[in-house]
Amino acid sequence: MCGIVGYLGFQDPKKVIVEGLKRLEYRGYDSAGIAVIHDNKIKTVRAEGKLKALEDKLATENFNGHLGIGHTRWATHGAPVEKNAHPHRVGEISIVHNGIIENYLDIKRELLDRGAKINSDTDSELVAHLINEEVLKTQNLFQAVQKTLGRLVGAFSIVVIWEKSPDELVAFKDGPPLIVGLGDKENFIISDVQAALQYTKNYVYLEDREIVHIQNKEVRYFSADAKPIEKKVNHLNWGTEQIEKMGFKHFMLKEIYEQPRAVAAAIQPHLNPETHQIEIKNLNFKSSSKEVFNKIERILFVACGTSYYAALVGKYLIEKTSRVPVDVDVASEFRYRQPIIQKNTLVVTISQSGETADTLAALRLAKDLNTHTLSITNVPQSSIDREAEGHLYMNSGVEVGVASTKAFTSTLALLNLLALEIAKARGHLTVAAENQAVKNLLAVPSQLETVLAFDKYFSEAAEKLKEFKGFLYLGRGVSYPIAMEGALKLKELAYLHAEGYAAGEMKHGPLALIDSRMAIVVVAPTDDLIEKTVSNLQEAKARGGKIISIGTGENEALKSMSEYYLSLPVADWMTNPLIATVPLQLMAYHLADSLGLDVDQPRNLAKSVTVE
Ligand code: F6R
Repeated sequence: MCGIVGYLGFQDPKKVIVEGLKRLEYRGYDSAGIAVIHDNKIKTVRAEGKLKALEDKLATENFNGHLGIGHTRWATHGAPVEKNAHPHRVGEISIVHNGIIENYLDIKRELLDRGAKINSDTDSELVAHLINEEVLKTQNLFQAVQKTLGRLVGAFSIVVIWEKSPDELVAFKDGPPLIVGLGDKENFIISDVQAALQYTKNYVYLEDREIVHIQNKEVRYFSADAKPIEKKVNHLNWGTEQIEKMGFKHFMLKEIYEQPRAVAAAIQPHLNPETHQIEIKNLNFKSSSKEVFNKIERILFVACGTSYYAALVGKYLIEKTSRVPVDVDVASEFRYRQPIIQKNTLVVTISQSGETADTLAALRLAKDLNTHTLSITNVPQSSIDREAEGHLYMNSGVEVGVASTKAFTSTLALLNLLALEIAKARGHLTVAAENQAVKNLLAVPSQLETVLAFDKYFSEAAEKLKEFKGFLYLGRGVSYPIAMEGALKLKELAYLHAEGYAAGEMKHGPLALIDSRMAIVVVAPTDDLIEKTVSNLQEAKARGGKIISIGTGENEALKSMSEYYLSLPVADWMTNPLIATVPLQLMAYHLADSLGLDVDQPRNLAKSVTVE
């Protein structure tokens, strides 16, 4: 969490840093701040709340210079108020920090004993004190930072400037991402490439316990013990349209509408449109993917939030098609319960950002247990992507809206492919079945277009939802995790209580909740469980439940019992989850928007959860 921008170059650092922070606001929006060296003095401006408050303050400031740091905060230590906003200035030092210093209490005690005056409630300020003490002794910023690192325990990334050296930035990463953007006569240190995408396409990804030292135009890399290291420069082919709204009211809406293209981009590299066969490309396992898929005796998905619900869909898809047992774990639970991973388990981590701290820790645990690992990520070169053995890419393009949308459907498309590829490797997929499955997948982008064309009905349905105080989202089989994802979208965007339930579980408790103010949103595309779902709905209807249903075509049985019926195009059971997701996304979007809520940046959330 938290977004960091450091800049050294020929442009006004205020402008570059604020632009960068705008791209990083998805990482936190509790407060923001900027520090720039102007005429050999550090000028700091900080503001509580969203970046707009900082921009308003900066409008009356005239300083410029060519070096600065900025930060957008998701509060961990200390309330989201101005005194806790970054950058933190201590003596000659200013610092921005992302992450957590676990031994902050020891450091604080020590600093207080030495008579330090501590102004904020943050752990970050304490780091600034330590570096300032060192720089006063050594008169060398690099040495001061390097020496301080040995004192810090936790997961953190920092960028530091020193008033006496207006051409120098030092940064260190041990946990949250930190990337160096290499421009033409200007350089950037950023939490995510989006922050510098309009200036450069060349990036160096810092690994844990690496330091970058930028002095004038020279960029050098070091290990934590100050040994010089060589780093690879990565060229990224993303256009700036990825980070613009392109005429949509919100990024989230744009990203929902991008799904036909995003899903096509996820599957196309792995499908042969002529033979209608699957060839998953560049998985990059140490042995051949056929060998891995043949040998595995169990698959274990580990993920968080929306990615976890995608993993649950993966369980249904893989078990049914390839008969390999699949378990799914929430990453924050997995990492602390001493999980049992037998030989020949494939651990699959799913993460849009590729940076979620719990998922990354779960991946590292799986690697320590010597098992095959596969990551499904949207951000190439993210920590999870770099550390996993095998790789699959969502190829969705940048997802800016804090609520995940296109990454979810792209992941579902990849899980279709993975299920089929594993089934094929194990002899469970005939050529005819493979051909049909590929045709089904290739049809998804146009089916998504069809669903999107019904947006006005989803917006009308959202108006209906306003009448209710609580929401049960129901589904069976592969639609059950989709119901859970729909409930999550409503919770996080509209701040309404919603629960995703297996439709067959209603009579084991939730039926007691049914009254005229409880809406039942059911995901019921036509598949081999549809009749069972309809029976479950009868039970709810008989008790006064109000039903909003999503079904295939004109499903009269569903329609007759529903207050509102939303129709999906005919699709296969494996691809139904992709198209059934869209109405749920759009209903939550429209409801939140009509309530005047900030759909792109829901309260208390951040997109990339780099703290556990
Ligand atoms: C919900 C949402 C979150 C993320 C979760 C995991 O809309 O976006 O629940 O899915 O924080 O994030 P990633 O996929 O980046 O690991």
